Amino acid sequence: MEIKLDVVEDSSLVLIKQGAEARVFESTFVDRRSVVKERFSKKYRHPSLDSKLTLKRLNAEARCTSKARKLGVSTPVLYAVDPLLHSLTFEFVEGPTVKDVFLDFGSNGIVEERLDDIATQIGLAIGKLHDGGLVHGDLTTSNMLIRSGTNQLVLIDFGLSFTSNLPEDKAVDLYVLERALLSMHSSCGNVMDRILDAYKKSSKQRSVTLYKLAQVRQRGRKRSMVG
Ligand SMILES: Nc1ncnc2c1ncn2[C@@H]1O[C@H](COP(=O)(O)OP(=O)(O)OP(=O)(O)O)[C@@H](O)[C@H]1O
Ligand SMILES: [Mg+2]
Repeated sequence: MEIKLDVVEDSSLVLIKQGAEARVFESTFVDRRSVVKERFSKKYRHPSLDSKLTLKRLNAEARCTSKARKLGVSTPVLYAVDPLLHSLTFEFVEGPTVKDVFLDFGSNGIVEERLDDIATQIGLAIGKLHDGGLVHGDLTTSNMLIRSGTNQLVLIDFGLSFTSNLPEDKAVDLYVLERALLSMHSSCGNVMDRILDAYKKSSKQRSVTLYKLAQVRQRGRKRSMVG
């Protein structure tokens, strides 16, 4: 008997980003535009330890991306996990990163309302993650996309995410974002205040987290004075 196999067309991979620990490609998954994120070894780490760490982060990213979606935060749909190739395949989200949009602020006519809207979406999304006990771990504006057409915020890059209900972990999550905004997007003014306003509305545990955030900021200042 002849068995006919439906071979999924293996379209070419186009490199989008080569990072220190992962390569991101654009590809096609069953006729859909997709993104393949492949983690690779770090040469200086012991091979078996390295393979364990890579798998740990791959699993964390797969699990936490799905958990975020369940908590009502938009993330790309996870299409496939390949533990042998250390790769994840996601839905391709059409649209710029928040980094690109914020860098355009002031020069390319992105208006105040758009900035406000994005800041509000960011605050609401982080509040939902945190109340659900999920810490993103790498909140930067390149890990946020704006879906074209709908202007919906989509969070990506959950490779450093973990579950925690410690206010300190959530405060550090916010602090990382605050530092990133100050260094990269100083022209966007008090965008962090708008994010925190929305966060306060969204998170039930806001008081204790924001109290911790004040402490984390103070520690950061002391550290920078020491040098
Ligand atoms: N699902 C997606 N749809 C469209 N573009 C994406 C998607 N996932 C990632 N990208 C693009 O690829 C870039 C890198 O992706 P990601 O942040 O997941 O990888 P990374 O190598 O871990 O980056 P980092 O250096 O920030 O840790 C993103 O900033 C974005 O521009
Ligand atoms: Mg990233």
